[in-house]
Amino acid sequence: LDNGLALKPTMGWLHWERFMCNTDCYKDPNNCISERLYMQMADVMVKEGWKEAGYEYVCIDDCWPSHQRDAKGRLQADPKRFPGGIKKLADYVHSKGLKLGIYADIVGKTCAGYPGSLGYYETDAQTFADWDVDLLKFDGCYMDWKLLGEGYMNMSRALNKTGRSILYSCEWPLYEWPQKQPDYKAIRETCNHWRNFDDVYDSWSSIKSILDWTASHQDIIAPSAGPGGWNDPDMLVIGNFGLSHDQQEDICPRSKKLLQNTDIIAISQDPLGKQGQCTIKVDSFEVWERPLSKKRLAIAVLNTQEIGGPRGFFIRAAPGWKICEPQCNVTQILPQYKELGVQTPHTKLVVSVNPSGTTLLTVTPTSDYAGLIL
Ligand code: DGJ
Repeated sequence: LDNGLALKPTMGWLHWERFMCNTDCYKDPNNCISERLYMQMADVMVKEGWKEAGYEYVCIDDCWPSHQRDAKGRLQADPKRFPGGIKKLADYVHSKGLKLGIYADIVGKTCAGYPGSLGYYETDAQTFADWDVDLLKFDGCYMDWKLLGEGYMNMSRALNKTGRSILYSCEWPLYEWPQKQPDYKAIRETCNHWRNFDDVYDSWSSIKSILDWTASHQDIIAPSAGPGGWNDPDMLVIGNFGLSHDQQEDICPRSKKLLQNTDIIAISQDPLGKQGQCTIKVDSFEVWERPLSKKRLAIAVLNTQEIGGPRGFFIRAAPGWKICEPQCNVTQILPQYKELGVQTPHTKLVVSVNPSGTTLLTVTPTSDYAGLIL
């Protein structure tokens, strides 16, 4: 969507996978959907280095509103859980130098049964603008699939009409895929990013299913990604339970380090904005490659074999390795940072990849021999 937003993939925090529709603030005050949760999150994002690493949006998902609209037909936050209201929350989040995202649904009710926006697109867009909200995640539960396009486009127009810059996060293709191949040109013109596939769960099998879906549909979806509009594979679930060493109170230092790793973030936020693609599947390895600015390349090698130990992969087997002609500089970003030095197209360099693990490299072509010879 050409609204000047999402020139790089959006970074931030969204409550859904971890906190879902927990509205019981009496029994579970620390984990319920309430203003306290987002304020705490904003505090942590500033104090613990997240903001500095580039995470910017604090996003509310389903289950925030009251079950009734107000007398003027406007959505209102649940008064018990959000006593200050959304405008105050937005002010708080902005005072920390961050942005606030909110959630609504295209039809009469949200997936979890809260009031939806059908018949109220302009009212809701204006309400969000009046509250100084910065992002809208617009869900598509229960919509007749034939009306999805129209609904998503109408809300896009309604947001634009408010005059406020509101990043527009859609789920249009996710709900359309079971019926037909979505029109990604129209989607890109309408939304700043869009979910294509199932919700992520806190498990390796869920992540694998998203990777598999993405690899098998990349020819359709990857060309539409770029500054202003992105395919959204859903949240990173690092630091929760399913993928961590132990159940724990807080995010463990290793997960935090990974999420704040500046080399990985630089790949995600690379100004070229080209989506990475799976380039080969061989011998239970998957190679994913992403072209970066300045003719660089990121290569991720995933060992999909979940039995046995670390396995070696000849990196020159990656199709993109040809950029190493006549030679290149290679840096390993994951699992540990390591300079792997100057390599050539015929290098015998082997990278080791743990079971269900990934080794991530960046490759920088060295323009010519001249500089080296001199
Ligand atoms: C379905 C979406 O795909 C999820 O990300 C989440 O927003 C839930 N709905 C909320 O009900």
